[in-house]
Amino acid sequence: MSIKEKMNKRFYDLQGGLFAKVTKADVGEGAGQLIQNGYTVMAWADPFFPDPSIPKSVKDTMIKEIENGFPSHYTMPMGDRKLREVIAKRIKDTYDVVLDPSRHILITPGSDSGLLYAMLPFLSEGDEVLIPDPSYPSNFVNAKLCGATAIHVPLYPENGYQLDISEFEKRVTPYTKMVVITHPNNPTGTVFNRKSILDLCDFVKKRDLILVSDQAFEDHIYDNREMIAPMSIDGMFERTITTFSISKGLGLSGFRVGYIIANDELMDVYYGGAVNVLGATNTLAQKAAITALEDKSIIKDYHERLLRRRDIAYKILNSIPHVKTILPESGILSWIDISELGTSQEVAAYLLDKAHISVNEGTPYGHQGEGYLRIVHACFWDDQDAVKALNKIKDSLIQLGKEKRL
Ligand SMILES: Cc1ncc(COP(=O)(O)O)c(C=O)c1O
Repeated sequence: MSIKEKMNKRFYDLQGGLFAKVTKADVGEGAGQLIQNGYTVMAWADPFFPDPSIPKSVKDTMIKEIENGFPSHYTMPMGDRKLREVIAKRIKDTYDVVLDPSRHILITPGSDSGLLYAMLPFLSEGDEVLIPDPSYPSNFVNAKLCGATAIHVPLYPENGYQLDISEFEKRVTPYTKMVVITHPNNPTGTVFNRKSILDLCDFVKKRDLILVSDQAFEDHIYDNREMIAPMSIDGMFERTITTFSISKGLGLSGFRVGYIIANDELMDVYYGGAVNVLGATNTLAQKAAITALEDKSIIKDYHERLLRRRDIAYKILNSIPHVKTILPESGILSWIDISELGTSQEVAAYLLDKAHISVNEGTPYGHQGEGYLRIVHACFWDDQDAVKALNKIKDSLIQLGKEKRL
């Protein structure tokens, strides 16, 4: 038996380092090497990457905190008290949900760790987790890491990638324990509408399930769409764990600050295990997050920038022959149908080779991702740099179409 075979089989198939067949640019050293070699990375869901993007007020807070010296110490594992208060206010203002900062909020080192931790106490071998497809790849992996089975629930472009509860109903078994949604969705940018959310909540209650709602992308919703948090729906707070992040909306992914919201019965357990599973989140980053959340001018400015960028990207990508693109409803991502030009893998490899641009293949996002690419159009601070990269993608895909004699 090889030493690796002694591993828990939940972990055995994970690959992302030296021996990985890289299908996602954001594992191992792949992206780092690409950047060093002058490639453009549009495969990290990280606004303004790789340009500097720490707002002045946040920088000032960090300098002040370093000078007073406190950030060399831990905060409580549940997180900085002031940060939890700021979050409680924010959730009240946004969703009209009243939270007790001492009972309902846990600060996490980024929301990826929060997402896995949200699922961990509920799942064991044999459980099934319903996950819309396409959605964030970690959702499928997390189910497996918890010993459960991810059950893919297809979403369709014809339906605007909204939730169709009959697709969930078809897949329910006595083993179904949980639903995990990414809302707004990554990669499609879909903001689940009122009908989707209300139908989902009815389904979750009727079937007595747990809902995990990942709202990492909630900050930038376009065209006056309504953003409904499932936890705000009657009878849902006690069965919903919601995860959040400052990585996307505030462009502060490197700070590694996220948070979980849940009812106090569940939170008691999350607090209890916080030291073992998460440790405490970086103190300086939490202080910075307080300013980032309180200084409303940051999100306002980013909203204007990201909306403008969404429109620029849509115009360029939508003008490529044999490519179908949808207008993103939120966030920083474009999701394009390149199936007439080849498979996700072929077309992503072509762009890497010819345009020196790394984008995401659609397949890690689920079975529905074949024939699609995800492009992070919000990379770079200056629009002109993004325009240059998007036009390179356009020229390369036009060339590919010619080579394929379309
Ligand atoms: C949908 C979604 N949720 C959560 C995360 C995790 O982000 P972070 O750990 O930086 O908060 C990501 C990162 O790409 C994401 O795309």
